[in-house]
Amino acid sequence: MKRLLSIFIISLVLLHLAKADEGMWIPILLEKYNFEDMQKKGFKLTAEDIYSINNASMKDAIVIFGRGCTGEMISDQGLLITNHHCGYCQIQKHSSLEHDYLTDGFWAMSKEEELANPGLSVTFLISMEDVTERILQDITDDMTESERSSLISKHIEELEERAVEGTHYEARVEQFYQGNQYFLFINEVFTDVRLVGAPPSAIGKFGGDTDNWMWPRHTGDFSLFRVYAAKDGKPAEYSEDNVPLKPKMHFPISIKGVKEGDFTMVFGYPGTTQEYLPSFAVEQVLNESDPHRVLIRGQKLEIINEAMNSDPLIRIQYSAKAAGVANGWKKWIGEMRGLKRLDAVNKKKEYEANFQEWVNNNRGLYAKYGKILEQYESIYSEMSKYNLGMIYINEAGIGSDAVMLALKVRVLENLDGADDKMVELIKQEVISTGKAHFKDYNEATDKKIFAEMIRLYIENVPEEFHPAYLENFDKITKKADDKYAAFACYCFDKSVLTNQEKFDEFTKDLSAKSYKKIMKDPIYILMKDFLSVYRNQLAGEYTKYENQIDSLNRVYMKAQMEFEADKLFYPDANFTLRVTYGQVDNYFPKDGVEYDYFTTLDGIIEKDNPEIYDYDVPDKLKELYANKDYGQYADADGTIHVGFIGTNHTTGGNSGSPVINANGELIGVNFDRNWEGTMSDIMYDPDMCRNITLDIRYALFIIDKYAGATHLIEEMDIRK
Ligand code: ARG
Ligand code: GLU
Repeated sequence: MKRLLSIFIISLVLLHLAKADEGMWIPILLEKYNFEDMQKKGFKLTAEDIYSINNASMKDAIVIFGRGCTGEMISDQGLLITNHHCGYCQIQKHSSLEHDYLTDGFWAMSKEEELANPGLSVTFLISMEDVTERILQDITDDMTESERSSLISKHIEELEERAVEGTHYEARVEQFYQGNQYFLFINEVFTDVRLVGAPPSAIGKFGGDTDNWMWPRHTGDFSLFRVYAAKDGKPAEYSEDNVPLKPKMHFPISIKGVKEGDFTMVFGYPGTTQEYLPSFAVEQVLNESDPHRVLIRGQKLEIINEAMNSDPLIRIQYSAKAAGVANGWKKWIGEMRGLKRLDAVNKKKEYEANFQEWVNNNRGLYAKYGKILEQYESIYSEMSKYNLGMIYINEAGIGSDAVMLALKVRVLENLDGADDKMVELIKQEVISTGKAHFKDYNEATDKKIFAEMIRLYIENVPEEFHPAYLENFDKITKKADDKYAAFACYCFDKSVLTNQEKFDEFTKDLSAKSYKKIMKDPIYILMKDFLSVYRNQLAGEYTKYENQIDSLNRVYMKAQMEFEADKLFYPDANFTLRVTYGQVDNYFPKDGVEYDYFTTLDGIIEKDNPEIYDYDVPDKLKELYANKDYGQYADADGTIHVGFIGTNHTTGGNSGSPVINANGELIGVNFDRNWEGTMSDIMYDPDMCRNITLDIRYALFIIDKYAGATHLIEEMDIRK
């Protein structure tokens, strides 16, 4: 029986391998583990072409864009392409009712017209290296977890410091396989990054949040930036004297087009996956975390969408916020459906039963791994209420802008007994915080959100975690029909944090005495109370459980790798550079329905509806369509291809990643996954999971034919 079982497991594993487009691989280990498979699937270059320490290679053309996206170099003058939604904040910050770049698009017709973006950076990887031995040196089995982790932290700190001594580089050590392996990354960070071009939202965000996470898709989700450096090529703060960066490598662009079955590779920075979780964790996601987050964000969105539809100024002010809120909301809905459809919890439970049997049959294994699953189970059940509390504090407690502003102006507490110099410093700081805040603020909308957030918090969070100020709730709302609205009105009326005029009034004569005033401000008090619940009742407990889980994860990861010794394991995503590869492929979302692997401009025209903001196709685009004015960007079939899908295993952070063909040429920019596949962060399904790519020809068509920015096309290396 045991033998049968292990044959069964091995064949399961092989089956798995055969289909495997699952996996986010470490670039320096491709040669060893993946290269044969990549070649079999059609890749024509060498592993050295992807990552090389000695020569320029693809990795030198790829950057972390901002804090959570990927971008890539597409010319020898520092030109960078990423997604529209990745550059969204920058485009929005340059927008006003007079210059509405979100609505109208922006194109710098010369380098002088490019726009600076303070705070934005791009990060190139110089090198990476396995440093497991150095990090785990002197770690012994009889150490306590805290001894272990403090020694590791010390090693990491020392190594990071030494690694970049005397250079302008930055170093970062990251753990892989839940702390069974460590890699050192040396990075170079550039901070003068200018906006070059962005299509109007009607192209760059076409389909908006309605089509987000969905296939078939018609979003022209790209924007262009340029990286600048000092004259010597080194990173420098923004200066007029800076020159366009000459990167070590940039991608040639293929306009030959893609076919079903073509090899594709995505090279970028996937943020987080959790593929090796125990069933108890998946249950928590499915039955607790996702449903509550979806509930809170759904309510918030209803209010924001109504306000945005009623007023163009509110649309500009809230569009970035709404996109952020909606993105997670919709992803979690898809994730829950996908996990249910895959019967993920039961699949994990089955796996765990086999694992446990394997462990039980060997005394040595039992001693090491016998109790892991039991321990997981009790931790996940004990931490549940803290998990819920954390979600509600983050999403609802500080989920209105007013409370968020309170959180951002906590320097006001230093007013207590402050001298004039100190007061002046504090004043300048809060005035500038307020200025940025109120640019994108609408009081009436926020008041509704606040009321709803308080309601959800009160109704769903155990009373022990309610902020103290809510003891006044009944008194304040005594006679009201809608108690939450009444509570919101009371707090908003009495607070100086809820509109620009009151805030200006308050900050204008700021003095040490203002301390008393802010400490009586209801919004400020609420913020402090939430913070104290968070600090004193939630965070400590929650972190305690998380630490226990981290330790178990390390052991369980190792155990799983021993249990399936023949399987090639890839480490969970951790926002380090990874390669994922697969092929262009269609899929069958439900019985009787097939989704083709590409979309075209015809589909944009089909969706056209001037009544609906997300589907209002610009006249110029309709004109190009009517005249079939496609230049060199049409497919062999005579249409403009807009997007295509493939089996590459991607996640958040892969937005903006280059999608590369067998010859190492850029064929598209990754920007999303299909809704049926969003559970791939926890469980991948080769039949259902697809990454969504913007066909590079559509981007070039827009740049060239729509915007007339032909000078940008000329600096690219286009292969016909
Ligand atoms: N779903 C994509 C990602 O996770 C795109 C998000 C931005 N687009 C939007 N309509 N909110 O980032
Ligand atoms: N849009 C996502 C991002 O910002 C990529 C989609 C995904 O999660 O795969 O990274």
